[in-house]
Amino acid sequence: MIVWAVFTLILSSVSALGQSGLYGDEFHEELVLKQLPSGHVYSYFQFTTLWENGGDQPNHHCHLFPQSLSEVLHLYNVDEMHLSLTGGLWRHENWGYPVVSAPPGAELWAWFKEGTHDVDKKWTLLSNALSGLFCASLNFINPQQSPSPKYSFAPLGAYGSASQNRSLLRYSTLPREIVCTENLTPFKKLLPCDSKKGLSSLLNAGNIHNANYHSLGIHVRPQCKDENCHETVLELKQTVSLVYDLIILGQESRDWSFRKLFGVGLAGPCPLAKSSKIYVDCSTNATTFDYNLSPDPTEFINSNRGGYNTVFAVYDIKKTHIINMFSVSATHKGPRVQSIISPPVIHATRYIVGYGQEHGGIVTKIHNNHWKEIDITLFENIPWFLPTYYHTLKITANGGKQVLKPYAKHYLPGRDRSRPYTLEFLVTLPPRSVTEIYLEFDYSFLKWQEYPPDANHGFYVGAAAITTLLPHTKNYTGVPIDGSTFSSSINASRDTYPVTLHTEILLVTLPTPDFSMPYNVICLACTVVALAFGPLHNHTTKRLQMLDPSEETKGVIANLRQRLNSFLTQSTKAKEQSSPAPSEVIKSPQKEEAACGSKVTSRKKDRAAKSS
Ligand SMILES: *[C@@H]1O[C@H](CO)[C@@H](O)[C@H](O)[C@H]1NC(C)=O
Ligand SMILES: *[C@@H]1O[C@H](CO)[C@@H](O)[C@H](O)[C@H]1NC(C)=O
Ligand SMILES: *[C@@H]1O[C@H](CO)[C@@H](O)[C@H](O)[C@H]1NC(C)=O
Ligand SMILES: *[C@@H]1O[C@H](CO)[C@@H](O)[C@H](O)[C@H]1NC(C)=O
Repeated sequence: MIVWAVFTLILSSVSALGQSGLYGDEFHEELVLKQLPSGHVYSYFQFTTLWENGGDQPNHHCHLFPQSLSEVLHLYNVDEMHLSLTGGLWRHENWGYPVVSAPPGAELWAWFKEGTHDVDKKWTLLSNALSGLFCASLNFINPQQSPSPKYSFAPLGAYGSASQNRSLLRYSTLPREIVCTENLTPFKKLLPCDSKKGLSSLLNAGNIHNANYHSLGIHVRPQCKDENCHETVLELKQTVSLVYDLIILGQESRDWSFRKLFGVGLAGPCPLAKSSKIYVDCSTNATTFDYNLSPDPTEFINSNRGGYNTVFAVYDIKKTHIINMFSVSATHKGPRVQSIISPPVIHATRYIVGYGQEHGGIVTKIHNNHWKEIDITLFENIPWFLPTYYHTLKITANGGKQVLKPYAKHYLPGRDRSRPYTLEFLVTLPPRSVTEIYLEFDYSFLKWQEYPPDANHGFYVGAAAITTLLPHTKNYTGVPIDGSTFSSSINASRDTYPVTLHTEILLVTLPTPDFSMPYNVICLACTVVALAFGPLHNHTTKRLQMLDPSEETKGVIANLRQRLNSFLTQSTKAKEQSSPAPSEVIKSPQKEEAACGSKVTSRKKDRAAKSS
């Protein structure tokens, strides 16, 4: 009895220590749901792990932080790492800004610790390790395609010294990468509760990959432990962004629920999580939409941020008593109304102009809908096989009437097979304007082994990244840089709101040799050989023979007619004779055959004798 009591005491104290933080680790899970004005539903999952001493001790035990990832980070001296795997394009003009932005395909950027010498080697090893960890083709990233941006991709973590040696930064994208279940499974394995309990159990592969936009993100950075920021913790943010089109999901209605979006309900919070909350953005209720949520939320909170008010319905899963399955659903009232969507402050598009397969141009259009000027940084990373010409760079606003002059720029020409073309500049966009950035390039002709198996599909050019500081929070959902969880964005008014936009990726068709030619040649050669072989074989193996003119063979028809004639005459003869001899009638063709056969065999014998 006493033993049992001691045992339970130890057990309960261990579990209490685990939760209260003997290890100093924290785990938070959050889900944000927002009905976008276009009628889509945006759901954003954020799993935040904060690890005390994470950055300091290289050999120690992990509690909530994934060991596999921490080993990789320590081994390759990584200070900060951002990885995203995305399918689909985030449409800023219709959907506003996401919480975390990601370009289509895969994107990886990392800051290495100060004093790292062989950054290129570490970068290759890091991308290979991550490739194994997430089952993605990140191993195709090589130092030759990875520039160190000069103005964009500033470190987001808390650092002791403010030195930002840009040679410690590497950036790369794989626009062709396709995201699927094989990436989601290892992603979920990094979570303390895997996908067995908590919000991650909603991440059902079948329902995620049929969304209009889906993006997985891994963001690691050192973060301040408290307000004074004397100590840092290692922060790991695992994010999943999904945009569902309710019409594609079936049913005409705009109503949504967990079951409709994710296919399952929620069984309960992750027991290891310190907080487990669901936020539903109800700001558009009563203006664009009119809906009721069920069950009733734990509370409604008002977030006043940068002059814009947002109402969130909050469900605290830790406090909710879940009997069966928990599912939030929204039921709309009234008819479906298509409202006019006002685009956010800054959004951009990019496309290719020109015709033929010699020269072309890349046009990036950036819209500024604000009444004031806005400064932006544009980063273009163009592969070496599209040689761009810096002297053709034109930055104009308002339909070419106003020529803009960047006040800082950095252009690094590419080198064949070893360095991409990078262009980066800082420019001020005039108020209420559309700025057009035009750059010319050549289509180059590659070596034949450099074409991918489906050469006619074309080559992808990664997205351009636009970094800016927004003056207000209209359509903005980001988490402040000093916060870790989504809850830190509530009432978080700042002077400016940093945002990164990614444009579309481009698909260019390079001049492609006719790879079907060898195949055609082979086919033609085979046909010729096959056609020539028969007659040649005939001519070389057959022997000419003299025929007796009396036995001269006739045509097929004449032969048949003769046989028929003989048959008819025989049958009439047989009728005339009262006792016919049927065996003879049948025999006659057999006889001929036999004769033929003897002729052939005799010829064969002849040949055998000759060859011997
Ligand atoms: C941006 O916010 C405004 C006001 O909150 C809203 O009317 C508009 O529809 C939003 N636009 C997008 C694209 O979210
Ligand atoms: C930046 O780092 C590289 C390699 O670590 C070093 O060679 C270079 O001197 C550093 N530059 C500055 C300005 O500290
Ligand atoms: C939406 O607005 C309607 C009326 O304007 C209100 O009855 C309903 O409770 C609101 N729903 C939410 C989730 O705030
Ligand atoms: C945010 O600020 C508003 C007023 O500025 C206040 O009413 C609200 O309660 C605050 N929200 C939270 C969660 O503190």
